[in-house]
Amino acid sequence: MSTENGHSEHRGRTVVVTGAGGGIGGDYVAAFAAAGADVVATDVAAATDTGTALAEKITAAGGGRVVFVAADVTSDDDWGRVVDTARSEFGRIDALVNNAAIYQGLGGKKHLTELTNDEWDRVLTVNVRGTWQAIKAVAPVMREGGGGRIVNISSTVARMGAPGFAHYVASKAAVDGLTRAAARELGGDTITVNGVAPGLVSDDASRVLNTGDYIAMAAKGRALGREMAPDDLVGAVLWLASPSSGFVTGQTVVVDGGGVFT
Ligand SMILES: NC(=O)c1ccc[n+]([C@@H]2O[C@H](COP(=O)([O-])OP(=O)(O)OC[C@H]3O[C@@H](n4cnc5c(N)ncnc54)[C@H](O)[C@@H]3O)[C@@H](O)[C@H]2O)c1
Repeated sequence: MSTENGHSEHRGRTVVVTGAGGGIGGDYVAAFAAAGADVVATDVAAATDTGTALAEKITAAGGGRVVFVAADVTSDDDWGRVVDTARSEFGRIDALVNNAAIYQGLGGKKHLTELTNDEWDRVLTVNVRGTWQAIKAVAPVMREGGGGRIVNISSTVARMGAPGFAHYVASKAAVDGLTRAAARELGGDTITVNGVAPGLVSDDASRVLNTGDYIAMAAKGRALGREMAPDDLVGAVLWLASPSSGFVTGQTVVVDGGGVFT
């Protein structure tokens, strides 16, 4: 079981994944556990039932053990509990996947002239400040363990400037900048920081925000010409979180089937 997805390098490692209750986060948790990693899966308190059930199901499947912790990425106190749990349950943190974001929670698309300051602040606070708070909480534990891997989930919208959610687009562009800054500042601690920028994934969140025609049009615009599934992201995320990506840092890898070439 532990080597079925070809990422056996993760056996015995501990990974923290945020946004584990969302459309894509659970796939990362399952893939890390299948590769043998123990996982601290986190999401907001409202996702506790989903997250706990996910942790039990994945742990029962064999491979690594998954523990769910309810934690808001914008709370330093919550990050303290996540770090404490990782230490007490598994003794270390080798990798962090910053996947949590307000995406489905955007609710719908709006012209930038209609966005309120509160909407702007909420999205930037969760998507950017929360990512920084996660790095700030976890980096000292990685440093103690001799290094680590941080993977920030961005989006191709940061490059395309997709209309309808300027605050979200700006937040993902800021995440890309944070990835580069953190890579420079943490490199001396043998911590790499990279990003993965997914294209439009055909998950529940995307179906809330986009019409079926829009999703089909995105698929046609790709070199590979098909819709994208959460599983399409797993290989890039697991590799950037693994020992073998150790000389890659400050990069954001686009995973979108060849839609955006920048
Ligand atoms: N689905 C796509 O097409 C797509 C494309 C590009 C990038 N992404 C990115 O991939 C990631 C996952 O996307 P998804 O489709 O699963 O989105 P989603 O909205 O289904 O999941 C996001 C998760 O983040 C959690 N979250 C929100 N605010 C939080 C907070 N303050 N603290 C902790 N957790 C919080 C939510 O509860 C949810 O479980 C996000 O970073 C998103 O921006 C998604």
